[in-house]
Amino acid sequence: MSKKICLTGIKATGMPHLGNYIGAIKPAIDMANTGEFNSYYFIADYHSLIGVHDPKLMRTYIHEVAAAWLAMGLDPNKVTLYKQSDIPEILELHWMISCFTIKGLMNRSHAYKASVQANIESERDEDHGINMGLFTYPILMAADIMILNADVVPVGADQLQHIEIARDIATTFNNTYGNNLKLPKAIVAQDNKLLAGLDGRKMSKSYNNHIPLFSTEKELKKLINRITTDSSDPSSPKNPDESLIFDYYSQFATNEQVASLRAWYLRGIGWGEAKMELLVTLNKTLEGPRELYNELMANPKKIDLILQEGAAKVRPQAQELVSKLKHTIGVS
Ligand code: ADP
Ligand code: TRP
Repeated sequence: MSKKICLTGIKATGMPHLGNYIGAIKPAIDMANTGEFNSYYFIADYHSLIGVHDPKLMRTYIHEVAAAWLAMGLDPNKVTLYKQSDIPEILELHWMISCFTIKGLMNRSHAYKASVQANIESERDEDHGINMGLFTYPILMAADIMILNADVVPVGADQLQHIEIARDIATTFNNTYGNNLKLPKAIVAQDNKLLAGLDGRKMSKSYNNHIPLFSTEKELKKLINRITTDSSDPSSPKNPDESLIFDYYSQFATNEQVASLRAWYLRGIGWGEAKMELLVTLNKTLEGPRELYNELMANPKKIDLILQEGAAKVRPQAQELVSKLKHTIGVS
């Protein structure tokens, strides 16, 4: 039996952060390393075009996301890494499935609704600054997934709605033409929990509450110091399960280290000490990848080559599906 297909994408919007790593990059790399899947991971650069309108920045962001995958351990011999814009068939499929997407489904999409809400709150026209790319975002994402008949999609919990939408669209299309499109399944790490940012909300570049993955040790220290703590006595016992510092620590330390810090919390730990423990562990985990990342960013041609090789592997499959579908819908 052929292996299941595992696929995921990250928008090119800048250096990934700890949340992206814990929610998407790490689970995806772990899945690829099991050897159970054919894995396809990509840079969703056309998705970034919704908000990134500076070509120089766009190029940098693409390299940053690709370099992050590689620095965190993606092996291009095991995983096909490519750029969405190198597979134009995704856009042909996008159009085909657009004609089977109920507009109301897009009205209910979180990303679009959040922008409308922000406009209403600032007393602007509700469509202010909203382009059609944002409105139809989930259709492009559905096309990304269906173009390779993906079975499973490792993502953070905030993407669950998009996967549900993809399933809805595939079902509608299949109701007309028979079983042509596979219904994908989301794989969500961390019991559906998103990693919190420095201010306690979801960690996100758009909230500027994030810890970029390849921050220098000095930057890490500054960011960790931004975590707000209370003024309780350093020797008083503290609840690890209500501590952001502990939450971050648990993601990067070994089970033994986590158990030992938990005991220290319960005995009484000073916030300065807890922050120092986190800094040391985080920095130790990330210093190797940081070096690799910097090397790759200094040599973007190497990244481009890997992306081109990836696209060359994906395109024939994408072409095959689109040509089959063109026949199915009757245009060829
Ligand atoms: P951002 O919100 O910073 O713009 P993206 O939307 O590009 O991040 O997310 C890329 C991937 O990382 C997605 O799979 C998303 O679900 C995951 N992700 C983003 N933020 C978090 C978070 N705080 N915790 C866990 N996963 C996250
Ligand atoms: N929407 C995803 C995000 O914001 C990125 C993405 C685009 C994606 N296409 C995808 C994720 C296909 C998984 C599969 O993070």
